[in-house]
Amino acid sequence: MKIKNAQNKLLNILKKMTMEEKIGQLYQAPFFSDVVTGHAFDASSTIERIKKGMVGSVLSVHKEETLYDLQKTAVESSRLGIPLLFAFDVIHGYRTSFPINLALSNTWDVDLIERVSKMVAFETSHKGIHLTFSPMVDLVRDPRWGRVMESNGEDPYLSSVLAKAYIDGYQQGDLSKEGSVAACVKHFIGYGLSEAGREYNTVDLSKRLLYNMYLPPFKTAINAGVSMVMTAFNTVFDRPATANKFLLKDILRDQLSFNGVIISDYTSSEEIMNHKVAEDMADVAFQCFDAGLDMEMVSESYMHHLKTWIEKGLLSVQALDQAVLRVLKLKDNLGLFDNPYGYFYKDSDQYILTEQALNLSKESAEKSMVLLKNHDQILPLKKSDKIVLCGPMIDQQDLIGEWSALAEKKDVISIVDAFKNDGDFEILNNQATDIRRADKVILALGEAGDQAGEGNSKADINLPEDQVTYVRKIYDLNPNIILVIFAGRPLIITEVDALAQAVLYAYQPGLQAGPAIKSLLSGDSIPSGKLTMTIPYHQGQIPIYYNHYQTGRPFDPKRPNYRYNSRYRDCKNDPLYPFGFGLSYASFIYKNLSISKQTLKKYDKLLVSVDCTNDSNHRADEIIQLYIEAMSFSVARPVNELKAFKKMTFEPYETKTINFVLTVEDFRAYNITMDYTAEKRQYRVKVGPNSKDLMMETIRVIDQS
Ligand code: GLC
Repeated sequence: MKIKNAQNKLLNILKKMTMEEKIGQLYQAPFFSDVVTGHAFDASSTIERIKKGMVGSVLSVHKEETLYDLQKTAVESSRLGIPLLFAFDVIHGYRTSFPINLALSNTWDVDLIERVSKMVAFETSHKGIHLTFSPMVDLVRDPRWGRVMESNGEDPYLSSVLAKAYIDGYQQGDLSKEGSVAACVKHFIGYGLSEAGREYNTVDLSKRLLYNMYLPPFKTAINAGVSMVMTAFNTVFDRPATANKFLLKDILRDQLSFNGVIISDYTSSEEIMNHKVAEDMADVAFQCFDAGLDMEMVSESYMHHLKTWIEKGLLSVQALDQAVLRVLKLKDNLGLFDNPYGYFYKDSDQYILTEQALNLSKESAEKSMVLLKNHDQILPLKKSDKIVLCGPMIDQQDLIGEWSALAEKKDVISIVDAFKNDGDFEILNNQATDIRRADKVILALGEAGDQAGEGNSKADINLPEDQVTYVRKIYDLNPNIILVIFAGRPLIITEVDALAQAVLYAYQPGLQAGPAIKSLLSGDSIPSGKLTMTIPYHQGQIPIYYNHYQTGRPFDPKRPNYRYNSRYRDCKNDPLYPFGFGLSYASFIYKNLSISKQTLKKYDKLLVSVDCTNDSNHRADEIIQLYIEAMSFSVARPVNELKAFKKMTFEPYETKTINFVLTVEDFRAYNITMDYTAEKRQYRVKVGPNSKDLMMETIRVIDQS
């Protein structure tokens, strides 16, 4: 009954709306003057447009007074008083900054990601914002692309699982609930495949790769109830995603039954002219609306041209009404019609930078960093260790990364601050004499927070030469180097990795960077993060990722110098560190992999179990991973496909039997006829600590699903 009443309420509003007011709901306005892709706009027009009912939403405004005034203008000065939707990119923290999303994905921790996004929603929604442009679920394979920092890495299954966790944390199942915000999944689709990792570059992907690799996280996000989908800047099958009827209508609406709002990316609608598929803004309006785009972010093609197309009968007013109703429904779900000022709170600073938020930021930073090397167990530090802290980023505070909303670098605790504040280690000066007599040297380097993110593709992701030279000099003084690497992406660290005794990849860890690093290096917490994006051995290997095809002439390690197989003359094929890799202070031993059947029928359940032992005196977490491999299929499939994982806590010397349950569905893929099926073939089931060190069993599917 409640839903019926809500629908009637919105239909009654719709009936009163003029054509201009309807089109106004499909416009997301800026409120700052900016020039992007040659588009300059004067924000002062936004207020006048709001009064005329020509604006449905405003993005990237975060000053509460301004938001309140804009809402007041819409509610009290426009004819119908329809409230505005306020959207902002709050993707890894509003004021309390958490690790960048690529780092968070290294936790493989659904519960943690849900708690983090719930905390992000709590801060955001208590500061006047209704919707966040998150989660970003672009699959990434090329660390030259700066936006890998906001992704969940290179695997579709993991990205899908984490996408749901973000959405559950943001939306909490009820958008009218205090502390929740609406979520927008992005970028639909294929943006992470930008050729050569160059920002906004051409994307070329097959339909099968789209369905097998790129679509799953969006499908999961839609099934999790995401409120909005944002289109990508790039073309897919040679049509811009923003004006791509196959993507927006056939896939999103028809195949995935998405009934939320589809929004363009920032001026991506008018950029279809740059893609050279539209002549002018009138053409832009027709093509985007006809393809199924609901809301235009910043561009004004709908504002100036949609009415004419509809009056000519070339676009339908019914389609316009449906798009408007989707926007009104989102606003109603958020409770904005009942109380348009419901996201403004007195003394709202009480809701940000709370102790709980800062503790969660530290916890998530500890769990997102990846211990790549720990030679001779140099870590954890001993209380008696005399330590030197050095390196270009040892006192760095620019560790919050891009898309950091209102987080401030001044609030970041550096490594130096953390070690010096606590005083529980003897810290020497970093003069040559001290370095020589130190037991251990903690050396921090990498790229600062503003080096990755949008518009930050790099042709060269080697560590800067001066940093490598610095490590060599320190090594000559004292080889007991513990490297801490900050970055928004995997960098080429091969040379410094070889010089160091230990390597902790810290990414951009947020406000609690220093305390988290100190906690890990001292053993107060135990490293548990595992790579969700491959770290290349050499830049020339890129793109390099674990779920690659075998090729017709796979590299044969027994014939490493044989010329005629898939290899380089001048470099090995293997990455420096593979997907799924990460060390602990504990050592885990995997034994007794077993599967309950040798053949699998349509409705069977396959029990896969393995014994895992923590062969140490540390209480520690381990992420046990399960992959499959199709030994043959009607199309090429990856050498490994992640299908399940479990993050478990082990007491010292504890052995657990880890059980996974698979069905024939876990072996499916889009095949030669684009049927999503598990063909009657042989498959391997593999379990282990990462995508390389795997135990395996073989099974045959005998009943095609
Ligand atoms: C940007 C990004 C998108 C973001 C939007 C609004 O260009 O591509 O991820 O949400 O504009 O800031």
